[in-house]
Amino acid sequence: MTPTDHDLTSPTRRRVLAGAATLAPALLAAGSLARAAGDDGKITAAPSTRSALVTGASRGIGAAIARRLARDGFRVTVNYLGRRDEATAVVRAIERDGGAAAAVQGDVAEAAAVAKLFEAHAAAFGGVDVVVSNAGIMRLAPFREMSDEDFDRMLAVNVKGSFNVMREAARRVRDGGRIITLSSSITQLRTPTYGPYAASKAAQDLFASVLAKELEGRRIAVNAIAPGVVDTPLFTQGKTAQQIEGFVQRTPHKRLGTPDDIAGVVSMLCSEDGAWINGQVVYANGGIV
Ligand SMILES: NC(=O)c1ccc[n+]([C@@H]2O[C@H](COP(=O)([O-])OP(=O)(O)OC[C@H]3O[C@@H](n4cnc5c(N)ncnc54)[C@H](OP(=O)(O)O)[C@@H]3O)[C@@H](O)[C@H]2O)c1
Repeated sequence: MTPTDHDLTSPTRRRVLAGAATLAPALLAAGSLARAAGDDGKITAAPSTRSALVTGASRGIGAAIARRLARDGFRVTVNYLGRRDEATAVVRAIERDGGAAAAVQGDVAEAAAVAKLFEAHAAAFGGVDVVVSNAGIMRLAPFREMSDEDFDRMLAVNVKGSFNVMREAARRVRDGGRIITLSSSITQLRTPTYGPYAASKAAQDLFASVLAKELEGRRIAVNAIAPGVVDTPLFTQGKTAQQIEGFVQRTPHKRLGTPDDIAGVVSMLCSEDGAWINGQVVYANGGIV
């Protein structure tokens, strides 16, 4: 199979297109028949060959995304930075459910480590169809108190790190695939102490919309997902119960989001029904903004 023989479209549509090609090759060559069929003349990756790479998947939102994509039939690379035991537990959980996964250490802030991460994925699973740039950190402080060290590390992981991952994804994701990056609804909430973090997440919105255009003609959808407040250590650590309740009360659904709330959105974007959502920021936040 050539790399373009793998992508996410249904076998049904492949059969439809194959039939159309037999009937009207001239039309198909001109592209008009493909458009008449909804421009969905994509070839489906055999379910057994689909694969996804999720950065920062040892815990929190990334772990839920890895487990959900495995349930959806993807073989999954579970990237982590330091929590090897947690990453291994995610892999074991996927395997117990009948899926396939591998844990791969790598600091997304290092371009060479990201290249190695994708190499490890290719060695384990072949080509990649879905990349989720999820790894991120949050350091909060008012402007007057934010240290250079915290600012630099946050930008290194959230902006340069996601760039490293999306650049490698742009080079490697097979036609018809998906690239998703984790933004945040904080870009709209603009809460005090969140300035540099919010800026690092706003970068994801721009990365997604620009890369979506750069990949024109390859049926690769690139989007940012902007969660609201999600019950993970990144959000809860360092906050009082009262501060957390304040965010809950600002959310019309009156609860924190769960990692599975976000994993469900990733699953939708990676399904056939997600094909037409491209270059967007998808807000998944219970209505907080
Ligand atoms: N939680 C929220 O309310 C919320 C809201 C909006 C957006 N987000 C975004 O969602 C994403 C996931 O957040 P989360 O809440 O699930 O965070 P989390 O629970 O703190 O998990 C962070 C994950 O990222 C990994 N990671 C951190 N630095 C890394 C690096 N340099 N290289 C590779 N992996 C690294 C961690 O690996 P180790 O465990 O090995 O360190 C861990 O797996 C982030 O991009 C965050 O900005 C979160």
